[in-house]
Amino acid sequence: MLEVAGIELMQKVKTIRDIDVAGKRVLIRVDFNVPMDREFNISDDTRIREALPTINYCIDHQAKNIILVSHLGRPSGKNAELSLKHIIKRLERLLGRSVVFADDIDSAKSIQATLKNNAIILLENIRFYKGEEQNDDKLSKELASLCDVYVNDAFGTSHRAHASTHGTAKYTQEKVAGLLLKKEIDSFAKAFSNPLKPVLLIIGGSKVSSKLALLNNILGLVDKIIIGGAMSNTFLQALGNDMQKSLVEKDLITQAKAILDHAKEKGVKIYLPVDVVSTDSLQSPSEIKISPVQDVPSNFMAVDVGPASTKLFNQVIRDSQTIVWNGPLGVYEMTQFSRGTFSVAHSIADTYAFSLIGGGDTADAVDKAGERDNMSFISTGGGASLELLEGKVLPAFEVLDKRN
Ligand code: 3PG
Repeated sequence: MLEVAGIELMQKVKTIRDIDVAGKRVLIRVDFNVPMDREFNISDDTRIREALPTINYCIDHQAKNIILVSHLGRPSGKNAELSLKHIIKRLERLLGRSVVFADDIDSAKSIQATLKNNAIILLENIRFYKGEEQNDDKLSKELASLCDVYVNDAFGTSHRAHASTHGTAKYTQEKVAGLLLKKEIDSFAKAFSNPLKPVLLIIGGSKVSSKLALLNNILGLVDKIIIGGAMSNTFLQALGNDMQKSLVEKDLITQAKAILDHAKEKGVKIYLPVDVVSTDSLQSPSEIKISPVQDVPSNFMAVDVGPASTKLFNQVIRDSQTIVWNGPLGVYEMTQFSRGTFSVAHSIADTYAFSLIGGGDTADAVDKAGERDNMSFISTGGGASLELLEGKVLPAFEVLDKRN
């Protein structure tokens, strides 16, 4: 069963509002891991925008200076393509202030010593340091030496116990959550501790394997589950349907059956697609067919849920008060296979339910469907929100100060 207690504990973190930052050096661990094209144009700056309230709060409350620490991508050593220099212009534009770039911790220190009060410093990609992912004590101490107050506002990275997300807090006297971290955890709490019922989980994406822990965990907390996307093929095959060339995780068929049985015991209703859109080839589809799940054409693969499923799912969505959605229902990036996913987005937007969207792909699909502003909350964390739904206490929260 999902550890609601875990969420409650995480909700107890002190935030920047609980302390006084005036005259102090504040280090904010942000998640500026944003998507960029080959020319380093940022295609989605949500994570930068979402970090602004905490940064502005520190500016408004007279922090002596602010040092922003983030990773970008997964570099092994220094890599100019993954330099945070690429985001400084956007950050300055959104903040309406200039930001000083520090190539490393030593230069951050000298900038701190020479700059006037209220300066904002952006440190180079923290993953250029080997010690970051190893949660190295030496690096943690060096980062801690840059600040009087440590703020974690990087929800997207809160499932990583790295030096900047975990270790640094151990060596800082005041360690608190930023406003985004708090907003994220409060939204998950709204969906899972004492939610308005019925609670519906919509789960999609390609692999059952990546969502197995979540599904096993969440059965005690939701009333209904819609399963779509390629992962539903494994469930449909487990129920005796021949899914032909569709992606099916054969080694998980027994586990899929067990989840269905377990859900039945718990009284959780599971809705699977009743029809699918399938094609002969994903790369260059020459034929696209709609069929009941019992009749997927030979050598075809399911790539979206069909119209009857969409109708069924929309009805289930309409009857829910709390909706958590993680994972698209089809290959939504291709227009012809996006209808199931987009229809779910529209349908959620039409409800008065509290809707919580988790995962990068799902957020992107909601955006493409034009419904971003119609969701109650879109999480900035993909992996982090999955681990939260698996019932884990995220490492970043563990080390922060708690209210009594
Ligand atoms: C993300 O984009 O999910 C976060 O920034 C974490 O990145 P990571 O998976 O490389 O740790």
